[in-house]
Amino acid sequence: MNILVTGGAGYIGSHTCVALLEAGHSVIVADNLSNSKIETIHRIKEISNKDVLFYQIDVTDEQAVEAIFAKHALDGVIHFAGFKAVGESVERPLHYYYNNLVSTMVLAKVCQHYGVHRFVFSSSATVYGENEVPFKESMELLPTTNPYGETKAMSERILMDIAHANPKFSVALLRYFNPVGAHESGFIGEAPNGIPNNLMPFVTKVAKGELDKLRIFGDDYNTVDGTGVRDYIHVMDLAEGHVAALDHLDEGAHIYNLGTGEGTSVLQIVKTFEEANGIEIPYEIVDRRPGDIAYCYADASKAQKALGWTAKRDLKAMCTDAWRFEKQYQALVDMK
Ligand code: NAD
Ligand code: UD1
Repeated sequence: MNILVTGGAGYIGSHTCVALLEAGHSVIVADNLSNSKIETIHRIKEISNKDVLFYQIDVTDEQAVEAIFAKHALDGVIHFAGFKAVGESVERPLHYYYNNLVSTMVLAKVCQHYGVHRFVFSSSATVYGENEVPFKESMELLPTTNPYGETKAMSERILMDIAHANPKFSVALLRYFNPVGAHESGFIGEAPNGIPNNLMPFVTKVAKGELDKLRIFGDDYNTVDGTGVRDYIHVMDLAEGHVAALDHLDEGAHIYNLGTGEGTSVLQIVKTFEEANGIEIPYEIVDRRPGDIAYCYADASKAQKALGWTAKRDLKAMCTDAWRFEKQYQALVDMK
């Protein structure tokens, strides 16, 4: 299939491009590079030894999107483009609602116009709110605590309503749990700007000596060791989940959790990282982070049954691959 990947220069999008190319699909990337670098597109080509067409456009720009659909016979769209920093979304709500909702609506509109019926959307486990774990697709969604989460719940709703009105439209709403790690080559990975908000990129910066210690947000949750529990999934498993969703896409809207079904605490991550890479991660316990919940992990059985997909890579691989990318990243940038 000929697939338009919006946000394909970003963290999850770039790994998904590699998985799509490996599965024999063709890829066209549309990205405005607001949170990524063109270098990533070169690396996708290097890893896969295949060509990738790249358009530097904003996907809220309907004319620019339409020009791509007019030029290429597309079979489907995977829509990753969006803003994702939870804290920033509280400070700049309009920025988030505009970018994340308008991009989804523009793409859906142009898809309808050009008869492109396959649509895969990046949603998030954040839409479950403080439900009881494990999170199941059939659960009623609880309010999220921030505008970012709301944009995901609203985008899901918009796409479900379109699928309801147009029976040909086939949509997969993929609710990601916590993607970590990097491609095994160490060529692409997660490279956030500034001080990372998320756990694994923070840990790799501490390992590298760029940050002095990890601050663990609370050890008084009702969990195995008091620290927060999450469902960490290797980004290549997540990427392969998109290929499976695309291959099995039926008419209507279908929601799938993409997680491992396993919960891991912050302290367990630290210990696994230390053992896997032979590096000590100094840490201190600080107050809970506002908005955090104790537990977040998936019931991953629906994707396994319906898509024949399951996460294969373990926590150790997530830690070694994340560290390999962090070590190589600067060296690769300096080489170019
Ligand atoms: P990312 O920031 O690395 O990638 C997003 C890409 O979209 C970037 O390359 C950015 O330049 C591009 N982009 C943003 N707005 C755009 C616009 N209007 N037009 C064109 N390009 C635009 O983020 P990621 O971690 O790869 O996340 C991808 C998607 O998955 C996002 O929608 C995010 O909300 C969702 N998601 C991510 C996580 C996570 O933990 N990383 C979890 C759940 C859901
Ligand atoms: C966060 C977002 C969520 C988003 C997800 C993936 C919040 C409240 N939630 O989830 O909406 O979908 O990222 O991008 O931001 N931790 C530390 N120290 C750190 C960083 C994290 O102890 O420096 C802990 C957290 O308290 C949590 C766990 O590590 O228990 C994972 O945190 P993080 O990587 O930020 O992901 P989430 O909070 O699950």
